Formats: sequence, structure tokens, C-alpha cells
Amino acid sequence: MQLTYSPFERSQADDLARFLASEEWPFHAGPRQTQATAHARIASGEFDGDHDRTYWIVGDDERIGMIHVEDLGDGNPLFDLRLRAGHRGKGVGTATVAWLTTTLFGEFPELNRIEATTRQDNVAMRRVLLKCGFAKEAHYRQEWPSENGTLYDCIGYGILRNDWESGVTTPVDWDDGP
Ligand SMILES: CC(C)(COP(=O)(O)OP(=O)(O)OC[C@H]1O[C@@H](n2cnc3c(N)ncnc32)[C@H](O)[C@@H]1OP(=O)(O)O)[C@@H](O)C(=O)NCCC(=O)NCCS
Repeated sequence: MQLTYSPFERSQADDLARFLASEEWPFHAGPRQTQATAHARIASGEFDGDHDRTYWIVGDDERIGMIHVEDLGDGNPLFDLRLRAGHRGKGVGTATVAWLTTTLFGEFPELNRIEATTRQDNVAMRRVLLKCGFAKEAHYRQEWPSENGTLYDCIGYGILRNDWESGVTTPVDWDDGP
């Protein structure tokens, strides 16, 4: 499948709201959204604010997912990646994070790091991040509430520009305690 990435435009708000509301997102804090909720988020500028970038992930000619980068202004952007259920587990997530990393480091020469967080049991996302050169940088215990009341651990990852350039993931010094 040929993957391309197309910037989201506000005129596509209906499409984005439909996309967000038409799938289950079991690893997100709000796993089910209505189109009205999604529309409100879009209208607030959450996806196309000054420090946001949102792209459709297009497989051949079909929109199969989206990736949203936020906090581009503060030097520590974070991103959210969502694929339609029928397109998961086929390498699209890995290809997309690799594309995003190259795009952001290429477009923003002052950018030194990119971050991502995910729920501990989101094995696919954690594998994607490790395969794309991100290092585990944080483990927040019982940080992520779910609909059924379970508190999941949240795992933080980051990639440094140096590591992206060299292709070598520098390990975190976990034994630096006093
Ligand atoms: C998480 C997500 C982006 C991963 O993308 P993907 O295209 O499905 O993942 P890939 O096909 O690139 O696979 C990456 C790795 O995860 C593994 N993997 C994929 N799906 C898996 C699953 N359901 N369970 C366990 N491992 C899985 C693959 O085997 C691969 O690991 P490997 O190289 O060691 O074999 C995608 O599944 C998705 O959109 N999920 C729903 C939304 C979500 O959870 N987003 C993350 C928010 S932080």
C-alpha cells in the first residue's frame, strides 16, 4: 500500500468528526466519541491551532488514519496516532511515526526532541515507538483512568535529534539517584 500524508484543513471538519466518532479507541481516555463532541474539539482549534499539526494518513486513495501533533511551540511536541481498525497491525503505524519524526526534525531545525505517551497495555503503540528509535523515559503508575474505573500505568517515550541523526537510541541513565 502506498502511504501519503495530507494536512488536515478546517473545511474537512465533518470528515474528521466522522472519523473520530466512527471507530472505537480502546486505549484513549475517551474511547467512544460522538460527532458532536468531535466537532466541538475541532471548532476549538485543537487540531489546527498555531502549535498543532494534523495529517490524514492516506493508504492508496483512502483515508485510513490521522496523526495529530500538539505543543509544537514549546520544544516538546507530543503526538496522537489513530488508524482505522481494519488497517492496524500492517506496519502503517511504524511507517507513520518514522515519517513524522523525519518531517518534524526536518521542518523545525530548532526542535531537539519529540515525545509520546501511551497506556502500558498498548503493546502495538509501544512496539511502534521502540522500532522508531524512541526511548522509554517515564513510567507513571496508575495515571491513566479508564471507563471501567481501572487505573492504567502511562508510559512516556521520547526521541532526541542526535539519536534520530545517528540512528542509535541513547539509553536513559536510570541509576542516577542520590
Ligand atoms: C497503535 C497503532 C498506531 C499501531 O500501529 P499499527 O500499524 O497497528 O502497528 P504496526 O503494524 O506498525 O506494528 C508495530 C508492532 O506492534 C505489533 N502489534 C501490532 N498490533 C498488535 C496488537 N494488536 N497486539 C500486540 N502487538 C501488536 C506488531 O507485531 C509490531 O511489532 P513487531 O515489529 O515486534 O512485530 C494502531 O494499532 C492504532 O491506531 N491503534 C488504535 C489507536 C491507538 O491506540 N493509538 C495510540 C495512541 S497513543
